[in-house]
Amino acid sequence: MTDKVLIIDFGSQLTQLIARRVRESGVYCEIHPFNRVTGAFLKRFGAKAIILSGGPASVTEAETPRTPDGVLEAGVPVLGICYGLQAMVAELGGAVEGSRTREFGRAFVDVVDDCALFEGVWQRGEREQVWMSHGDKVTRLPAGFRAVAASEDAPYAAIADDGRHLYGVLFHPEVVHTPHGAKLLRNFTHHVAGCAGDWTMSAFRARAVDEARIRIGEERVICGLSGGVDSSVVAMLLHEAIGAQLTCVFVDTGLLREGEAGEVVTLFRDHYNIPLVHRDASELFLKKLAGVSEPETKRKIIGAAFIEIFEEEANNAGGADFLAQGTLYPDVIESVSAIGGPSATIKSHHNVGGLPERMHMKLVEPLRELFKDEVRALGRELGLPEHMVGRHPFPGPGLAIRIPGAVTPDKLEILRHADAIYIEEIRSAGLYDAIWQAFAVLLPVRAVGVMGDARTYEFVCALRAVTSTDGMTADYYHFDHEFLGRVANRIVNEVKGINRVVYDVTSKPPGTIEWE
Ligand code: XMP
Repeated sequence: MTDKVLIIDFGSQLTQLIARRVRESGVYCEIHPFNRVTGAFLKRFGAKAIILSGGPASVTEAETPRTPDGVLEAGVPVLGICYGLQAMVAELGGAVEGSRTREFGRAFVDVVDDCALFEGVWQRGEREQVWMSHGDKVTRLPAGFRAVAASEDAPYAAIADDGRHLYGVLFHPEVVHTPHGAKLLRNFTHHVAGCAGDWTMSAFRARAVDEARIRIGEERVICGLSGGVDSSVVAMLLHEAIGAQLTCVFVDTGLLREGEAGEVVTLFRDHYNIPLVHRDASELFLKKLAGVSEPETKRKIIGAAFIEIFEEEANNAGGADFLAQGTLYPDVIESVSAIGGPSATIKSHHNVGGLPERMHMKLVEPLRELFKDEVRALGRELGLPEHMVGRHPFPGPGLAIRIPGAVTPDKLEILRHADAIYIEEIRSAGLYDAIWQAFAVLLPVRAVGVMGDARTYEFVCALRAVTSTDGMTADYYHFDHEFLGRVANRIVNEVKGINRVVYDVTSKPPGTIEWE
């Protein structure tokens, strides 16, 4: 069994980043909310080390999160980050007070003593850049602790109790704005806790294949293949595990991008020899969507049609016992909400909603422990081509939610063409991988233009491109204007039906990434 690190979540926005950094150090970890961590849980989990996250509360107030019982006495190394440090200090009899000045953003700490966390990274006497975000500070250390770094505002910016292997940092090592933060976390997992660092994608692949074989046995599995990276990786992994017991279904909803159906079918059926049912259901989807403008109604119609088709195909495949899904770790983490209390952040749109219950199917979700970038690494490990691994996400409802108003075959054709030009230009400018997602939207608005000597009256196309780490928040991508001008020019000249192009500069929140 690989070493496991337990990350106890106190509700920081950055907790997932801690997990990513720990995994980047080659160590498996899981996030659990503070109020779910009990003695029995700790025993079952078997952590090699524990990290206490930051959080929005203040330990100087009553009723705020505390270090769960047993954590500091578990006999394994503990690292408290920001609120985690304060909670540890409060628990062990030190003092934490509200400070008149908040330290927020870039700050500097002086390394005042040697520390196992700093080994080979920071030297005593040096001044180092960190990222801080705290109001409270420690004013008295618990017995056994010493200060190892201090900032102008906080004399105990990093502390250590070597005897009990307890450490704390007031700054955030998990963010890139603490330039050596990842190395400090690595020192904690490897040097202090002695983790082997053997969490690699090839080890994960072998384990996941074994686990899937054991769980599925002789039964049959059906997997919806969308062409996106998650479902592609699930299909590859399960094919390796159970071969012909897996049937993949690719539903052509008629709402796909240019060339998409052919690409997916060629890759999986012809190249990998994975049994694939290619179901062309575009007529059905378009018929059901005819005349429907309301976004949620569109989504519901598409969801229901998808289940209908999938159910038919599952029956055609001789009835499947398992449904495979590309659920990822961020979908299953229960995080502590900033307003108190744990809240489940489970997205439903990853699921072929309702199908497992309706057909009495069990779920197999081999990616539920992975972050998106790890899924990409696993895809590479499994030999998926780079252009599949790095693909932008594409929503199940497809182009239907990028055509505000009623969806028609003509509009789909126009949008497909504009979108293909936009993506082609992004790729040839070398920008594709820097962007989380880019696409065109066909607005239900006509504008007047002039082409040659004639007046035109055609649709307006909006371009969207965003950067994001998980799709939950996003910023618009800052293209240079020359690039945008070039794309607009090509679209207006080459796509019949569009005579004007605009660029969407809304971030999320308050906007969403998709338009509907
Ligand atoms: P929004 O528009 O909510 O989108 O900011 C966030 C991310 O989720 C994708 N998305 C979906 N993916 N089925 C999916 O598989 C859906 O129904 C769906 N709706 C939105 C969206 O493309 C973006 O990456």
